Amino acid sequence: MKFYRTGMDTYAAPTTLGKLALSSRFAMAPMTRKRSPGGVPTAANAAYYRRRAEGGIGLIITEGALIGHPSASHEDDVPRLTPGPAEAGWRLVTDEVHQAGGRIAAQIWHLGSERRPAETAWTPDRMKVKDFEQLLIAYAESARTAVRAGFDAVEIHGAHGYLLDEFLWPHTNHRTDRFGGAAAARAVFPAEVIRAVRDSIPAEMPLIVRFSQFKERDYAARIAETPAELAVILGAFAEAGADVLHASQRRFWEPAFDGDPANLAGWAKRLTGLPAITVGSIGLDRDRLPELEKHDADLIALGRVLLGTPDWAKLATTGRESEIRPYDKADEDVYL
Ligand SMILES: Cc1cc2nc3c(=O)[nH]c(=O)nc-3n(C[C@H](O)[C@H](O)[C@H](O)COP(=O)(O)O)c2cc1C
Repeated sequence: MKFYRTGMDTYAAPTTLGKLALSSRFAMAPMTRKRSPGGVPTAANAAYYRRRAEGGIGLIITEGALIGHPSASHEDDVPRLTPGPAEAGWRLVTDEVHQAGGRIAAQIWHLGSERRPAETAWTPDRMKVKDFEQLLIAYAESARTAVRAGFDAVEIHGAHGYLLDEFLWPHTNHRTDRFGGAAAARAVFPAEVIRAVRDSIPAEMPLIVRFSQFKERDYAARIAETPAELAVILGAFAEAGADVLHASQRRFWEPAFDGDPANLAGWAKRLTGLPAITVGSIGLDRDRLPELEKHDADLIALGRVLLGTPDWAKLATTGRESEIRPYDKADEDVYL
């Protein structure tokens, strides 16, 4: 098992993301847990995140937290990122993570067409121009809430087939105005959201944008058929104020485009020069871990392995890998 420890050591070193100092290059991937009754994070949520900070994660990215607009979601137990009780709940979370030496980013989310019942969902094709303004206001308010609640960074959820990603994907964006058409036009509304958030947080606070090719409902989907198209979309994000790109893929070792071994994070970095976070089955198949070095990511995000083993990063980098429990799907139901 020695190769395993050696492969991971490099990620245990302190680093910086812009001006934000991190204790390691391990991030926690955002994972919805639906354990915030009434949309308000609790002391149990704070303890859950604290355990991952204690376990060697340099940057925690929270589960998706909803903007304060009724179209954002139908779920009662998904946390909100709004002034009032939810803000106070998040303050418990950020305090605990900071006490453990960790840093934490809030992921800001709107479900788009995944809202239920489906007739009530806002989608790119259904939205009126006046609706855009309402959402920009709500995103900005969530960003200001994140700052007041003590977050160190924010991440905009622009991946997986939710609202902002639905603008990027031609299959779910048939608009003929300035918000639809070629890649540059499809990126207009997501970029406006990025700008609204950027203008609502301190200049030195990292603004992460998460994007993906795949959708939860279509793993083969693509927002960009070519690196040139991806360059247009990510260039618009950077221009609007994104300063870190979180390239979500299901398996980090898979090339993003034919003919080049670079994964999606590698391409994001190459095309924009911005720092990138990679993610996707890290630690699920231990034999794949040495391949991480080939992918030029600034941070590596762990998702499912952290559900059952909160201190996965610490165990993997201190010679205690034999204590890591193999990931089990049942871990998704546990909340400790
Ligand atoms: C239970 C669960 C909930 C998730 N919720 C979110 C979410 O709220 N926001 C998001 O961007 N991704 C979400 N994801 C995707 C993860 O962030 C991550 O990209 C994915 O699990 C792949 O990483 P892994 O193989 O290390 O688990 C979720 C994944 C899981 C397993």
